[in-house]
Amino acid sequence: MNAKIITVGAIKGGVGKTLTACQLAARLSQEKGKKIVMISGDNQGTCSIFLQFRMKNKNVPSFDLVSAKDEEVRKKAISFKQKYDVIVIDVGGTDNQSQRAAMSISDVFLVPFAPKSFEIWTADDVVALVEDLKKINNKMKCLCFINTAETIKNSKDNAAAKDKLKEEMKWFSVLDAKLSDRKAFSNASSIGLCVNETNYSMRDKKAILELETLYQEILKNL
Ligand SMILES: Nc1ncnc2c1ncn2[C@@H]1O[C@H](COP(=O)(O)OP(=O)(O)OP(=O)(O)O)[C@@H](O)[C@H]1O
Ligand SMILES: [Mg+2]
Repeated sequence: MNAKIITVGAIKGGVGKTLTACQLAARLSQEKGKKIVMISGDNQGTCSIFLQFRMKNKNVPSFDLVSAKDEEVRKKAISFKQKYDVIVIDVGGTDNQSQRAAMSISDVFLVPFAPKSFEIWTADDVVALVEDLKKINNKMKCLCFINTAETIKNSKDNAAAKDKLKEEMKWFSVLDAKLSDRKAFSNASSIGLCVNETNYSMRDKKAILELETLYQEILKNL
């Protein structure tokens, strides 16, 4: 085994890193025979709550989780390389040592952006961060996507945000996939499930399709 490492990061807080990382880890755990571990640098403990709920549900496959901070993130990830197929790292907050440590050994750096000009303005800082880390790890692929996209058809904000990302995000591929602002994502996450695992009363086909599209696009880059 030689685990692939995906870090979900950002410069701005609250853009959906933890939600994306948990949905991704849960979706990955559905792949038969694959061993998945999540490293959480997030001191809010959200990933661990997600996993506690998940483990109570006997119908869904699980994954492992450890917490780590700063340089420990890198050390743990390296020690997991031969034991797991995929390592998903959620780094909490803003630009911090945990994120830099994770990026130094990541195959994929995945950044969610909300489609508001305010969020997009951090693009420069994210590019500068990547530029720094590329000196240490130049094989890292950088992907970004729109999270909490507007659900209205042909949303101007979504399109404008995507155009701006394409213009400003040097080093990055701007994914076609997006996650819209849907209760299905937060509801499923609050009970430790991937959106495609919820029962029919909570089931949202559009959310499932969005997550699957994002997942497949990430796999293509892994
Ligand atoms: N696509 C989405 N649809 C609906 N709710 C979402 C979506 N993405 C994120 N959220 C919600 O937005 C809030 C912030 O998301 P999250 O905690 O994942 O952000 P974060 O980037 O990890 O924040 P922090 O920087 O504090 O670690 C959460 O309540 C989450 O459930
Ligand atoms: Mg978080």
